[in-house]
Amino acid sequence: MQRFQIGGVDLAVDIQGRGRPVIFVHGFPLDHTMWEAQVAEFSQEFQVLAPDLRGFGASGATPGVVTMERFADDLAELSHSLGLTAQGVVLCGLSMGGYIAFQFLRKYAGLLQGLVLCNTRATADTDEVRENRYRLANAVRQEGPEAVIRQMLPKLVSEQTRRECPDCVVRLENMMRRASPEGIAAAALGMAERPDSSALLSAVPCPTLVIAGEFDMLSPASEMQAMAKNIPRGRFEVIADAGHMTPMEKPQEFNMILRDFLKSLEPPAR
Ligand code: MLT
Repeated sequence: MQRFQIGGVDLAVDIQGRGRPVIFVHGFPLDHTMWEAQVAEFSQEFQVLAPDLRGFGASGATPGVVTMERFADDLAELSHSLGLTAQGVVLCGLSMGGYIAFQFLRKYAGLLQGLVLCNTRATADTDEVRENRYRLANAVRQEGPEAVIRQMLPKLVSEQTRRECPDCVVRLENMMRRASPEGIAAAALGMAERPDSSALLSAVPCPTLVIAGEFDMLSPASEMQAMAKNIPRGRFEVIADAGHMTPMEKPQEFNMILRDFLKSLEPPAR
């Protein structure tokens, strides 16, 4: 892991390989290790960057509220400090990573060569979801990650994954335990504040791949398909028998779809 001082925090980033930069942005409340199978495969041909977002994994946390815009600013600063801005980047975000990708799109669309939206949605929270986030932030501050593990772990993977890949569930739980309670609370409050990004869809300037899980109960495939239809150069794929964590649950299928998309992009600008 390399370490960077970005926006007042110490960020840990796994950087491997050479070639077109692809940034993998993890979901809530996880860390870069959720992308292990993608880092291993795509670093053979691409420069892969998998950060631990502030408050997660081995990165420092900041208290209060961390907005999706702040996370996007961190990724843009990281790209600047590595000299990636001339050639641009491909951004691949899952769930909260997708919410961050929408904020990146809002502010730094010129840097994007391609966009991959996995198991996410463009809409803002409903009042009910927002209230739940406030409760969760309080509970995590009092009890630590146990509160979020209880709430989220049962919803992350499909029945098939639970049966056939128990290790996947263990890895998810360990990631949640590694996150700082302050970091979890700050990101939960940041998600609650995020604006609706639906109006951005028709103006996405780059090729976009939308990947859903057949049995994702947090970001339903039908909603993601409708989102993809509104993106001019959007492509939609659904992975059978997967839940919310498609890259971990079905790494081979996920990587095949992603590889095909990355190969279809124009060569990077010099
Ligand atoms: C995630 O996987 O990042 C979360 O499900 C996002 C959310 O809570 O909306």
